[in-house]
Amino acid sequence: MVQARGGGVGDIVRRGYQPADKQDVFDISNASGLEPYDISELDELFSSWPEGQHVAYDAENEKTVGFLSGRIHRPETNRIYMFAVMPGYRSRGIGQLLLDGFFSLSRDMGSDVILEVRASNGRARRLYDSNGFVEVCRISGMYASGEEAVRMKKEITFITSNENPDA
Ligand SMILES: CC(C)(COP(=O)(O)OP(=O)(O)OC[C@H]1O[C@@H](n2cnc3c(N)ncnc32)[C@H](O)[C@@H]1OP(=O)(O)O)[C@@H](O)C(=O)NCCC(=O)NCCS
Repeated sequence: MVQARGGGVGDIVRRGYQPADKQDVFDISNASGLEPYDISELDELFSSWPEGQHVAYDAENEKTVGFLSGRIHRPETNRIYMFAVMPGYRSRGIGQLLLDGFFSLSRDMGSDVILEVRASNGRARRLYDSNGFVEVCRISGMYASGEEAVRMKKEITFITSNENPDA
């Protein structure tokens, strides 16, 4: 487990997803504007690649407050499939904590990381930019709203200067 920076949210730790996190993860998704899905899909999603499913857990309040769900896109490329932090817990480094865990896992696998983000999602795009992601293409028809998705990629098979390889 790895601890996030402080900020009055108690002890936030990153750990692997557990079935007991399911309802909190579903609530975070709904509060964060992710594409709607049925809660029953989470079991399949999280069991398909257990190592790629991370949550941020508020130990003091016994609550899951963020999650990152990864997929193996193809050999040597992992995909950030779902990623969100509960409103009220944002801008305190919890998203970065989750990203660092996924980068560390991907580096161990010798894999780069891709993701898709809504073109209008400036907050998330800034975070990805600052983590070395670059736009590779635009995809239409991905979201129910019809908004364009931006596919971004980060090559992490080598260590870049803004990362802590031990995070
Ligand atoms: C995108 C998201 C997951 C980021 O989570 P987060 O916990 O807010 O992320 P962080 O706190 O690590 O970083 C966010 C910002 O806070 C800043 N920050 C981090 N720790 C900080 C601290 N202790 N004090 C002040 N600012 C801090 C970061 O520098 C970053 O700034 P930037 O946006 O200008 O780059 C969150 O905003 C979210 O859930 N959004 C809705 C769902 C979503 O868009 N998901 C992504 C879909 S692709």
